[in-house]
This record gives sequence, C-alpha cells and structure tokens, in this order.
Amino acid sequence: MNPRAAALSAAAARSGAEVEPGVWLVTDPLAAERLLANRAALPPRGDLRNEVTSWGPDGPAMWMAVRRAMRPLLSASAVDAFVPQMIEVAQGIGQGVVDAMREAVRLVSAINVRYVLGEDVPRISSLVDKELRSQRRRVQRATFEVIRQHVRVSRTGFPAHLKEHGFDERTITLAVRTMLLSSHNVPAAALAWCFHEVSARPDVQERARADSQFCGAVVREVLRLHPPVWQLPRQLAEAVGDYPAGATLLFSPYLNQRDPRAFAEPDEFRPQRWLSGTCPASGSYFPFALGPRFCPGSQLALTELTVILSAVLQSHQLVPRRAPGPSRGILHAPRKLRIHVQS
Ligand code: HEM
Repeated sequence: MNPRAAALSAAAARSGAEVEPGVWLVTDPLAAERLLANRAALPPRGDLRNEVTSWGPDGPAMWMAVRRAMRPLLSASAVDAFVPQMIEVAQGIGQGVVDAMREAVRLVSAINVRYVLGEDVPRISSLVDKELRSQRRRVQRATFEVIRQHVRVSRTGFPAHLKEHGFDERTITLAVRTMLLSSHNVPAAALAWCFHEVSARPDVQERARADSQFCGAVVREVLRLHPPVWQLPRQLAEAVGDYPAGATLLFSPYLNQRDPRAFAEPDEFRPQRWLSGTCPASGSYFPFALGPRFCPGSQLALTELTVILSAVLQSHQLVPRRAPGPSRGILHAPRKLRIHVQS
C-alpha cells in the first residue's frame, strides 16, 4: 500500500464521533475523502413501495447507467454552449426589492428546465417547486405525469438523448425528474447566498463586474461558507474499517469547509483565497460531494452561478435590505433574505 493510501485507511479506521447508536459523524478530511469514495457507502434509498417515484430493486444499477449516458450532456463544452441562454435569463432579473431565494429559484429553474428538456415547458418549474415543498403522493404523481407526457413526444434535450441510448419511458421519466428536482432549489440557494454575500460589499461587486475569474472565486467561496447540501448521509452496505455493516455515516461540507486547519480565517468571506492557484484537499472542500455519487451537475452549476452573477452585476447594483433568517431542514438556504436590485 502506498503511504498516502496507508494514511487514509489509518484515518478512516477511527475518525468519527458516534452521535447516536449506529450513527457516526465523520469530520476528519482524510476519512471523509476515503469513505465517500467507498462503493459500500450508499446514499439512503428512497421508498421502494412508492409506486410513483421508486426505481425498483435494480434502481441503483439503472441510475448509474443513466448517469454514464448523461455524461456528455453535462460536460464543460456542452455547458459552455449554453452560456448565451444563461445570460439572456440573468438579464431578466426582477427590479426593486426582491426575495433573494424566490428570485434565484426563478432564474436558475428557467435555465435548468431549458437545459434538461432542450426547450421551455410551461408548468414544469411550478410543479417541481410544489413537489419539493410537499412530497405528497398526489403532487408527485402530477409532476411525474407531466414529465412522462413530455418524454413521450420530446425530440430534444435529455429525453431524446436517453431514448437514443435505449432506456424505456419510465426510466427516462424518473431520470429527467431527478435532474429537474436536483437542479431547482439547491443551485438557487447557492445563487441566493451569492446575492447575500456580494450585496453588502460594493468593492466585491466592482471587482466581480470587471473580472470573470474573480467572479468564479466568489462562487467557490460562497459554496465554501454556505454549501446548500450541508449534510451528506451514507449507509454502509458492508463493514468498512471500524464501522460495521449497516452503520450510518454523516459527512458535513459545512463543518469541514469551516475548519481553521484547512482555511485561514474560515468564517471570513475571502474570495481571493481561490486565486492563489492552490486547491484545498478534497476532504476539506466538497460542496458537490465526493465519490461515485458526486453531483453530476457540478460543471453546469459552477458555470451558471458565475455567468448569472456576472451578467446581473454588469447592469445592476445589489444592496442588502433584510438579513436572512436561519435556514431550516436539509437545504441550507437564506430565508426571507431581501435584496434591492438597482439598475
Ligand atoms: C450549486 C449547485 C449544486 C450543489 C451545491 C449540488 C450539490 C450536490 C450534492 C452535495 C449531491 C450529493 C447528495 C448526496 O449524495 O447526498 C448532489 C447530487 C446530485 N446533483 Fe447536485 N448540486 C448542485 C447543482 C446541481 C445541478 C445544476 C444538477 C443538474 C443539472 C444537479 C444534479 C444532481 C443529481 C442528479 C444528483 C444525484 C446524484 C446521484 O445520487 O448519483 N445538481 N448535488
């Protein structure tokens, strides 16, 4: 075993705190990197009895096949080709005092629905929004049906590509639904946090306006301080190191990304830290998770956040109006944050 691998397994062996019986919080960066990459560490499965949303017993294998097939659609070059449409959407930002999260959802979802479906489909965004709020079976069924009808006739975007790969209608509908739900309020929370951090700093706005590399650094720093997915659960299908089969492991980008051993002045907003060319260890910075279930939309997300922020700042000044309330639940998003968008 090479020295790095040996160090990693030693760290993984005893690195977590048991927060309740069978549940460990793993904050050690090396252990987080190692365990998240382990194929035995699986995200909790959805309810197999849910006849609307369940992928069935072979779901994980089918999803991984869909992931592979979608890869070219989410590559850097595919994302770059979409930049003009991102700019067009960003230029339509609401004027005056806006609820930052609501406005961010509107912008991000206008881009991502078009990205995934290859065209605008009225209703989809509000259905997705409703489903993320309620989780009720009736609401899930309504979203599923609209997406299924669209998939049946679509000749563009992800549905057309997945048909070419021979996936059946139900699998494509579930895959498209997963992409639409995942690309709705998670990236919107990141954008709303961007609005929050820059609105209080006219100097940062000035620099981001003139320098797109700096704008990218702002986005990375926002994802460090405010990772929308702040907690990642994994369940062990077999024993790994000291952890028994069936153990639940919790990882937290939020905690690791504010560790003073990895980041100087970790609670300070300092985009410049991303301009030095040095990257933190992956176990110290993982807003998009790590390992086989790493976020497949990370390239799209980083580009769209940078492009929207830059396009908005080209013609607007953002001024804070009301501070955000503490976030609740599994999504770390700024609640009731109000920003004045001035042209
Ligand atoms: C700033 C924006 C985003 C952040 C911070 C983010 C973060 C994450 C994280 C942490 C996970 C892993 C969750 C877990 O395993 O528990 C994840 C999964 C996922 N993300 Fe993202 N994401 C973002 C944007 C997007 C976008 C734009 C898309 C689609 C276009 C997307 C699609 C997905 C999908 C489909 C998964 C599930 C992957 C799997 O389980 O194999 N995400 N994301």
